[in-house]
Amino acid sequence: MIYADGSVFLLQGKNYSYAMRVTKTGFLQQLHYGGKITKDDIAYLATIGDTMAPREDDINMDCALDGMMSEYGFYARGDFRDPTAIFARRDGAVMTRLRYKSYRVTTGTPGLKGLPHVRKADKTLCVTLKDDFSDIEVELMYSVSDDSDVLVRGAVIKNVGKTAIEIKKAFSFRIDLPNGEYSMMRLGGTWGRERCPEVAPISHGITRIQSLRGASSHQTNPFAAIMRKDCTEECGECYGVQLMYSGSFAITAEWAQNSPLTIQGGINDVDFSWKLGAGETFTTPQTLLTYSDCGLGGMSRSISRFILDSVVDPKYAYADRPIVINNWEATYFDFDNDKLFAIIDTAARLGIDTFVLDDGWFGKRNNDFAGLGDWTVNADKLKGGLDAVIDRCKKNGLKFGLWFEPEMVNEDSELYRTHPDYAIEKVGVTPVRARQQLVLDFTRKDVVDHIYHAVSKILKAHDISYVKWDMNRNITECFSDKLPAERHGEFMHRYILGVYDLAERLTKEFPNVFFEGCAGGGGRFDAGALYYFPQIWTSDVTDGYERTKIQWGTSMCYPLSAMSCHVSVCPNHQTRRTTPLVTRGIVASLGAYGYELDLSKLTEEEKETVKELTATYKKIRRIISEGDMYRILDPYTRDYFCEMVVSRDKSEAYVAGERVLCIPCDYNRYVHLRGLDENKTYRVEELDITASGAALMKAGLLLPKIPDFHAWTWHLKECDNK
Ligand code: GLA
Repeated sequence: MIYADGSVFLLQGKNYSYAMRVTKTGFLQQLHYGGKITKDDIAYLATIGDTMAPREDDINMDCALDGMMSEYGFYARGDFRDPTAIFARRDGAVMTRLRYKSYRVTTGTPGLKGLPHVRKADKTLCVTLKDDFSDIEVELMYSVSDDSDVLVRGAVIKNVGKTAIEIKKAFSFRIDLPNGEYSMMRLGGTWGRERCPEVAPISHGITRIQSLRGASSHQTNPFAAIMRKDCTEECGECYGVQLMYSGSFAITAEWAQNSPLTIQGGINDVDFSWKLGAGETFTTPQTLLTYSDCGLGGMSRSISRFILDSVVDPKYAYADRPIVINNWEATYFDFDNDKLFAIIDTAARLGIDTFVLDDGWFGKRNNDFAGLGDWTVNADKLKGGLDAVIDRCKKNGLKFGLWFEPEMVNEDSELYRTHPDYAIEKVGVTPVRARQQLVLDFTRKDVVDHIYHAVSKILKAHDISYVKWDMNRNITECFSDKLPAERHGEFMHRYILGVYDLAERLTKEFPNVFFEGCAGGGGRFDAGALYYFPQIWTSDVTDGYERTKIQWGTSMCYPLSAMSCHVSVCPNHQTRRTTPLVTRGIVASLGAYGYELDLSKLTEEEKETVKELTATYKKIRRIISEGDMYRILDPYTRDYFCEMVVSRDKSEAYVAGERVLCIPCDYNRYVHLRGLDENKTYRVEELDITASGAALMKAGLLLPKIPDFHAWTWHLKECDNK
């Protein structure tokens, strides 16, 4: 619901309210973002707002705007906090002071051209601010849905003058939270340890998380939770801040003198600039803001629901995801028809439905020194080409998927030999190589067109139902010889726009192909990527214990079905750890399930286990994709891991857990379930017991006594039996 009258604005979601007003001096002041209030409360909030807003006589004083809770921060005119945006006029002057001009309310949500965006919302409020000193207008967008706790923010910068200006910073949003004690949770890590939650108090100065890698990165996800002092997993208030953006980003929290806590973020402003010609507009990526008064768990459930309902392609959001067998860890580059056929034939007997042929099928790709960029099948390696493999899949009733890394090129490739200028390289500078590859210059339309034609040619010529889109290195030498020197600061954003353009064209042209995202594991796992790819390879680490931590962290702000999770062999290729096959299966079942090993080399007993795990997953995959997830035992701090998913009608639940390391004399420990209906009676299938939701949540269940790295599941079904 949106109430707007030109002086007051009130946005109402499911459990939150967001109030703003125009001050007497024309500034857009934030009054409240938090639990629900009504329109009648605004007069009271305005009287408090008056004490912080500058009066007419004060607006030219320094610090006049420094303490005001405002919707957009500007530069060099009395607000000394980090600006939300910086604009330079033709004479070089950068001072700005934006004041209210007009508003409009539209039905639905604006579809952003060229950027991933929220697909639906009930209503959108657009408030236009006008700069006092230049011909710049900024339209602030707020999309709201009655049944959601996610508020979508974004901004459009307009040059309404007759000369070009330079945008030096263009964050997507700003919120000010009242002075108080807050902590920030960020999801940090590295390759193989993506998205580890870390909580630290926000102190004076600027707390900043960012990526400068040209991708949202393994190291820092474009997400932060701003937590009030008393916020825990289950209780208290927090705000999720999540960018729908896959490129270099920044999110900052600034606490300056007595000012409110200012949160803002968007495209990373380091080395960013954008020349905006007369009459042109610049649209920032969208941001998802989520309010929760049920702790981090409530926040995660609201975000997951929203991403599935409004970000992921509706055709796939709640559809049964393919159960994949991928050959990467089974063969790496060393495969031929026989090896692949053995895997395919076995997969079919074990209930798996899709075979994905990973890296190594194209060009001279027999190792990672050659072939990237040459998207033609290596017929020396695959006798009979892709069709031979596809036919084998079909005979076995399997669908076929294929790996691409569209943004990359090896110097040892036909593409590089023919078009060396397609690679990002600065003439005269030795390029930085990573995994022996260079990045293609996706700021150039001709380069994106070339790759589009090469990939779509393969997709048209063969019966392919699944694509794994990988991206295995970050960007260095961020220059394009085709961009004029004064536009060099546009490079990083233009690169990701090129990626989005290719993703948009391919997903539109091939709507029946399921695209999975990947970036050397989980290096581009973000809400922008989920607009094109309904699921993303979560991490290259599939170890039965390490994965519990990665999936736990990822679940903070992404749905379970967005996480691609595979069972691989032991000792694990990354950690050398051995965990039981069942454990690996149970951990992978908390996501989009699959395998990544040579099935044909398993013992008959192991094959039987794989068959059972796959059959069990088929029974629970509906609840995994539709249900609400509760994090129960944190593997970072506990010697157990446990998560559970409850169906929306609360008639069913799936609990999956793992004993990490046993400790002596550790008897009779209970775990309290969550999210059930207190008044329903449930049967726990594995334990053959019946108990009320109240008992299971308030008294709990005894944790199983199992050895290190063993796992268990409990299926709960509502029953009449009292
Ligand atoms: C990346 C991916 C892997 C695999 C390899 C292939 O590392 O994360 O799953 O596809 O590339 O080169």
